[in-house]
Amino acid sequence: MKTAIIYYSMSGNTKYTAEKIAEKLDADIIRIEPVKAYPSQGAKKFIWGGKSAVMGEKPKLQPYEFDLEKYDRIIIGTPVWASNFAPPIRTFIHENKGISEKKIAAFMCFSGGGADKAMEKMKKYIGIDKFDAELILIDPKEHEKSENDIKVDAFCSALL
Ligand SMILES: Cc1cc2nc3c(=O)[nH]c(=O)nc-3n(C[C@H](O)[C@H](O)[C@H](O)COP(=O)(O)O)c2cc1C
Repeated sequence: MKTAIIYYSMSGNTKYTAEKIAEKLDADIIRIEPVKAYPSQGAKKFIWGGKSAVMGEKPKLQPYEFDLEKYDRIIIGTPVWASNFAPPIRTFIHENKGISEKKIAAFMCFSGGGADKAMEKMKKYIGIDKFDAELILIDPKEHEKSENDIKVDAFCSALL
């Protein structure tokens, strides 16, 4: 089973998780980035990103290489922004509607609120009822915990 992990990460938690999953599942990693980076410091970070997520914006992405035909399974990783998935992921899904035909799983990093809502919104946006597996972690790069490793293992095992 050939797997692609597509993720966006502003401050490294989602990247950290994507790399752990990729190692366990021997998956390709595709990091996406908006052309215009969101502010990543101070109050602006929450205001700009939060507004963009609430408005359902689809920021233009930097060029990325992703050939849907190559993969049987897609795993999408995103931070939670204002109880939603991050806008660059919205653009990716919009540009790759065929992912709904594949096996699909998702993981999200957040600080403690709104991940369940964000999961529901992402399923709806992709046009599916459920993910093959879901993983939600609280800022895993900042708080390294053995329970996070157990959750990552369980997520990967569900996909083996
Ligand atoms: C614009 C913005 C909005 C956020 N909104 C939420 C939120 O609604 N709920 C939450 O628990 N954390 C929220 N966070 C915190 C991030 O989801 C969390 O720190 C996550 O681990 C960051 O992932 P990253 O390091 O991959 O960017 C927000 C962060 C940003 C920048």
